[in-house]
Amino acid sequence: MKKKLLFASLAAVAAVMPLSGEMKIVAFAGSTRAESYNKQLVQEAAAIARKMGASVTVIDLKDYPMPFYDGDLEAKEGLPKNAAKLRDLMIGSDGVIIASPEYNSSISAVLKNAIDWTSRTPEGGSPRAAYKGKRFALMSTSPGKGGGKRGLVHLRDIIEDAGGTMVEKEVSIPLAGQYFADKKRPENPQLKEEIQLLLQPKMAEAVAK
Ligand SMILES: Cc1cc2nc3c(=O)[nH]c(=O)nc-3n(C[C@H](O)[C@H](O)[C@H](O)COP(=O)(O)O)c2cc1C
Repeated sequence: MKKKLLFASLAAVAAVMPLSGEMKIVAFAGSTRAESYNKQLVQEAAAIARKMGASVTVIDLKDYPMPFYDGDLEAKEGLPKNAAKLRDLMIGSDGVIIASPEYNSSISAVLKNAIDWTSRTPEGGSPRAAYKGKRFALMSTSPGKGGGKRGLVHLRDIIEDAGGTMVEKEVSIPLAGQYFADKKRPENPQLKEEIQLLLQPKMAEAVAK
């Protein structure tokens, strides 16, 4: 009950005022496809977060091509340039939004590869600075009825194991074709709630002031 009351007051704060300090978010989809539904979902989530006062950088993994993780390559050359770039972006952020497509009941190879590389360090080893202490909001969408939610089960495990703090709520949007074809759709309340939870530490600061 107490939790519900707290959430209601945080939601009320978010509705009327921007965050006290800017929360930095990096957001990306696990798909490189030009017309990707998950990229569209990232944009929708980013717009909601910006309205709540967060500073959001949306990136496209297509602009960050990187080789498949290879221990020999890492030993010889360290982190590939784009993996280091993405890792730095994550390190400089308070939170991360990831919209993941579901491929054969799991996440895409592009996304897993990006996670594998960014969970390493330029010197080798794995202190996971891009994950520890960061808040992660996971979401998915798919043309199917499940909305890609089976992939999020795996993604949650992977990110948690890398040290990320997970937002309790996830959003999976089914029938993506219909959903994104409707350009006049109202703001998705489930997505809004998830983003509120992502930004909660800053909202709590605003309530305390
Ligand atoms: C290799 C492959 C496997 C797929 N497996 C699933 C699946 O298990 N569940 C699902 O809902 N959709 C599956 N799909 C369909 C994707 O959800 C669909 O292509 C979706 O549009 C991909 O996300 P995007 O629009 O963000 O690129 C699969 C697609 C591919 C290419």
